[in-house]
Amino acid sequence: MAREKIEKPVVLLVDNVTKHFGSVKAVDGVTLTIREGEAVALLGPNGAGKTTLLEMIEGLQKPDAGAIEVCGLGYAEHEAQIRELMGLAFQETRFPEKVKVREALELFGAFYRVPSTRIDEILQLVSLKEKSQAYVNTLSGGQRQRLALGIAIIQKPRILLLDEPTTGLDPHARRDLWRILNDLKAQGMTLLLTTHYMEEAEELCERIVIQFAGKLLADGSLHELIEKHASHEIIEFRLKRNAPKELKALQEMKKVSHFQFEIDSLTGVMHVERAATILPEFTRKIGKTNLEAFSARPLTLDDLFIKMTGRHLQ
Ligand SMILES: Nc1ncnc2c1ncn2[C@@H]1O[C@H](COP(=O)(O)OP(=O)(O)O)[C@@H](O)[C@H]1O
Ligand SMILES: [Mg+2]
Repeated sequence: MAREKIEKPVVLLVDNVTKHFGSVKAVDGVTLTIREGEAVALLGPNGAGKTTLLEMIEGLQKPDAGAIEVCGLGYAEHEAQIRELMGLAFQETRFPEKVKVREALELFGAFYRVPSTRIDEILQLVSLKEKSQAYVNTLSGGQRQRLALGIAIIQKPRILLLDEPTTGLDPHARRDLWRILNDLKAQGMTLLLTTHYMEEAEELCERIVIQFAGKLLADGSLHELIEKHASHEIIEFRLKRNAPKELKALQEMKKVSHFQFEIDSLTGVMHVERAATILPEFTRKIGKTNLEAFSARPLTLDDLFIKMTGRHLQ
């Protein structure tokens, strides 16, 4: 029996959107649908086109071609309405110098006529209650990002858009922000964030969209991406001396889906379905005495990314 799936309403629709800067195709024919309650990571290295795509969604840049709708509304007729539906936080936020944390929230809150109880709610949510009377220019990087997040959600938007929310933050501040974002998700917030940290994509988002050179290369859960695009384990090894004939035999094994060997460092990488099934043949071919180091680990998003593009994420 076919399982019937009731689909949530579409919050964001990006339809074949393109943006050039001179000869650079920053965003190249991108199509993306995000439904209510989804948390989506747009993952890609610097220069992939993430910010350009996000800024078009936010109405800050105009596409050369294609269409964008937020909750079924287009920018041409409904820009003001769309602004209320979206919460935006940028990679860096500049605040006026002599403003206190609570005042900054009140300033933006007044714009949407939110009650002062909402300001208290936000201070609590982004853990800035103790800092409510501190000047914003005295805040740490993590606290500033939390304030920016608080401002972004002040009017209870339908979708929250974040551009590299934790780039430049220390691991502790990053974890704090992740915790708040996970709380927001638990309350049903729809989320689209850009990142070049695969850990961030994995921590916050059930759905990962990979962008490279303007194009979307993959879209799915981590599990789906790995199932679809690669085998499941990575073997890394180092030899004591080169063994061209034996390595060639390894490379030609059916179970090996990707093979690389660097002669200078005598290190190799193999993608296999299961390391355990290949280990006996591997040691037989290479010989125990020539093996300096050997390890097997599950495939990560970075391995997948290298396989797709030949480049590391970071
Ligand atoms: N205003 C601009 N003028 C010219 N080139 C730009 C501009 N904005 C972005 N680009 C170029 O477009 C590409 C994508 O940039 P960007 O969207 O910032 O990528 P990301 O956010 O993934 O690092 C890069 O090659 C970048 O140099
Ligand atoms: Mg960017």
